[in-house]
Amino acid sequence: KEKDLQKEFDAKIDAETKIEPRDWMPDAYRKNLIRQISQHAHSEVVGMLPEANWITRAPSLRRKVALLAKVQDEAGHGLYLYSATETLGAKREDTVDDLHRGKAKYSNIFNYPTVTWADIGAIGWLVDGAAIQNQVMLTRTSYGPYSRAMVRICKEESFHQRQGYEIMLTLANGTEAQKEMAQDALNRWWWPSLMMFGPSDKDSPHSQQSMAWKIKRQSNDELRQEFIDKTVPQAEYLGLTIPDPDLKWNEERESYDFGPINWDEFFNVIKGNGPMNKERLKARKDAKDNGAWVREAANAYAKKKRKREAG
Ligand code: ACO
Repeated sequence: KEKDLQKEFDAKIDAETKIEPRDWMPDAYRKNLIRQISQHAHSEVVGMLPEANWITRAPSLRRKVALLAKVQDEAGHGLYLYSATETLGAKREDTVDDLHRGKAKYSNIFNYPTVTWADIGAIGWLVDGAAIQNQVMLTRTSYGPYSRAMVRICKEESFHQRQGYEIMLTLANGTEAQKEMAQDALNRWWWPSLMMFGPSDKDSPHSQQSMAWKIKRQSNDELRQEFIDKTVPQAEYLGLTIPDPDLKWNEERESYDFGPINWDEFFNVIKGNGPMNKERLKARKDAKDNGAWVREAANAYAKKKRKREAG
């Protein structure tokens, strides 16, 4: 029977039919999806922190409104994705606890500090740009709830990317000091953004199986290259310089060659040793602890209500 179920599953993957929550699926497929989607959810939620740092200091009301909306969107994405893990049988409490215990990963990029206003521009432009590059392919992922979540999330990420690019454009066309601030942000965010796509294909343990299951539709290196090719002209338009002396158009490949990525830095950051890892986890744990009284009150109220209704 298991063999027939496996055959049916394989046929669906071949035919591009989405796998839905109540369908049979191999245990390893389920586990791998819970791993990836929960890490994705954690990234959205932790990702609120570096930007929220600037809400009170946004330079105008218009900027503040856009930033507030964006940070709120990230919270929505996180909740949406936690729900997707629940359709696979994961318990949200456990998933969140895994993050707080340092067991679950989240994107490397959110472990860097946002030291100037230009960082908000660079995050929107580069970080959300990289997120879109990776997530557009996930709209075609084989698990139904994840792929549908990605459609909506990508639309919102597009707005985030544009608001970031517009901040960069304003700074790049501003005073000399503003232009320097934009360049400095690009210098600091460029390489960590390239790392967001994950290790090189040859060092990516999950890729082969995830591609076979059509969870991933493009490889880490492919997406990274596409992102670079798309972003270099955007930097040129801003009049800013990408901090990579080896960056060069390759006529033959019709693509940019680029310099070596510092993978030691990447692995160090995802192991928990980046500049802001401890602060980020503390902020999430504090949020849970500080909200405990709300959960307790809601539970007490629900219990009382049930008792009353039971008469
Ligand atoms: N940051 C932190 N950890 C990473 C990153 C990263 N940028 N890239 C890879 N890793 C981790 C993987 O989670 C995996 O760790 P694990 O085995 O402990 O789970 C390990 O490095 C090896 O990497 P891969 O085998 O390449 O892992 P995978 O096939 O999952 O590919 C990728 C990584 C491309 C990030 C994939 O998980 C994915 O597409 N995720 C969905 C998108 C996402 O999470 N975006 C978050 C940032 S965007 C945003 O929030 C705005």
